[in-house]
Amino acid sequence: MTAALVLNGPNLNLLGSREPGVYGAATLADVERLCVTTGAELGIDVECRQSNLEGELVGWLQEAGARQAAGELLGVVLNAGAYTHTSIALRDAVVGAGVRVIELHISNVHAREEFRQHSYLSAVAAGVIVGLGVNGYPLALRALTLS
Ligand code: DQA
Repeated sequence: MTAALVLNGPNLNLLGSREPGVYGAATLADVERLCVTTGAELGIDVECRQSNLEGELVGWLQEAGARQAAGELLGVVLNAGAYTHTSIALRDAVVGAGVRVIELHISNVHAREEFRQHSYLSAVAAGVIVGLGVNGYPLALRALTLS
């Protein structure tokens, strides 16, 4: 069975209580359950991880690139949170590891503050899903199964 990795970045562990008007009521555990259930429907193994640390996310992207090169992984669904708007290190990890990434944001970052409207990741992502709430995660996983 092939696999996909779902990586959530800083503050996404607070989903459910963090600005529910922006991010909704679902918790990170709810999102991870949704991803695993979607994976079962798609016939892929889905693993979910969350970190508030940029370097840990870099390490996981490098690991994902190696697993993808070995034919074990379809790619990564990446919600990098605020690192999206700041992190050249995450962008370099995506390119350096050669990992296929679907960038995801729960909220519509383009309808929010100006600083959220630039992403270091979009130009190196295979695709971007924005503003569909947590329903974006199943869509992103489905996108990874398309060649
Ligand atoms: C987010 C949008 C980012 O701007 C923000 O910093 C987040 C969450 C989203 O899922 O909408 O932490 O990535």
